[in-house]
Amino acid sequence: MFADPPDGDVLADAETELMTELVGVQKTLSPVLKAKALDNRLPDPILGDEYAERTMRRLDPGYDKGRFGTSQLGLAAVVRAKAHDDWARSFLAGHPEAVVLHLGCGLDARVYRIDPPATVDWYDLDYPAVITLRQQMLPPREHCTLISSSVTDLTWLEQIPRGRPLLMIAEGLVPYLTETELRRLLTSVVETFPTGGIQFDTVSVWAWRTSKWDPTLRRYGTRFRCGFDDPAALADWHPRLEYVDEAPMNDSPLLTAKAPANVRRVYRLLNLLPGLKRSTAIVRFRF
Ligand SMILES: C[S@@+](CC[C@H](N)C(=O)[O-])C[C@H]1O[C@@H](n2cnc3c(N)ncnc32)[C@H](O)[C@@H]1O
Repeated sequence: MFADPPDGDVLADAETELMTELVGVQKTLSPVLKAKALDNRLPDPILGDEYAERTMRRLDPGYDKGRFGTSQLGLAAVVRAKAHDDWARSFLAGHPEAVVLHLGCGLDARVYRIDPPATVDWYDLDYPAVITLRQQMLPPREHCTLISSSVTDLTWLEQIPRGRPLLMIAEGLVPYLTETELRRLLTSVVETFPTGGIQFDTVSVWAWRTSKWDPTLRRYGTRFRCGFDDPAALADWHPRLEYVDEAPMNDSPLLTAKAPANVRRVYRLLNLLPGLKRSTAIVRFRF
């Protein structure tokens, strides 16, 4: 299941001393960060995130030693990040006065990659331990506010300015929420703001059900808590919510074009199995 990089190499040593304060699901930020850092070392990167490489190097100076082979299977997570970036850029181009909620931000440097105009107010939210680490790793930025909270404690919504278009981005977060928590989050966002976009990624029911056996998630002491075979149907949760589209992940043309040959071959094989190919979906909605 590929909600996070599926490859043992990437995941095996992606925890470092600086991350010892992180517990359970918070640790899932590390393999994604490592995949982004490794991507930046490719001759023709997919995301090209210098912040990820710099952060990973600070967390673990030797992170890339001998890890440049099959570990790039994590490139699907990089494709996911690129899809979220592209959608966010396009939303902000049409709504330069927007408010952005970047939920479960981990150590992702999206606000620096996208570099929105000063008219955009950006909020990066994650658990307190993650935000503390983030403050050590990434520079402060005007119009970017950090929120230390569980996303499920919706009182954080009270500090977000109202009356402006809203973009909610949740990369790699939704599978760790229960369906009830996700439903409350989506309906609260739609009811709080006049208009906006919502983009996130989900795992399939099969990936959710089998996640309790996933060795990486087990080591982190977490597992997926929801899964959807038809995430477009989540639009039914609120009359103002409308499904827009889905971006490819495991079968992305970017992987065919840019992944090293050995990695490309593995993805080609995995994509022959519909259950694996459709184990994740990157989806966007509007309201
Ligand atoms: C797989 S990581 C993804 C991190 C980041 N979005 C990225 O793509 O690099 C999942 C993130 O969601 C955060 N998370 C999970 N459940 C959360 C919750 N209930 N409230 C806030 N953050 C949560 C974790 O702490 C972690 O940083």
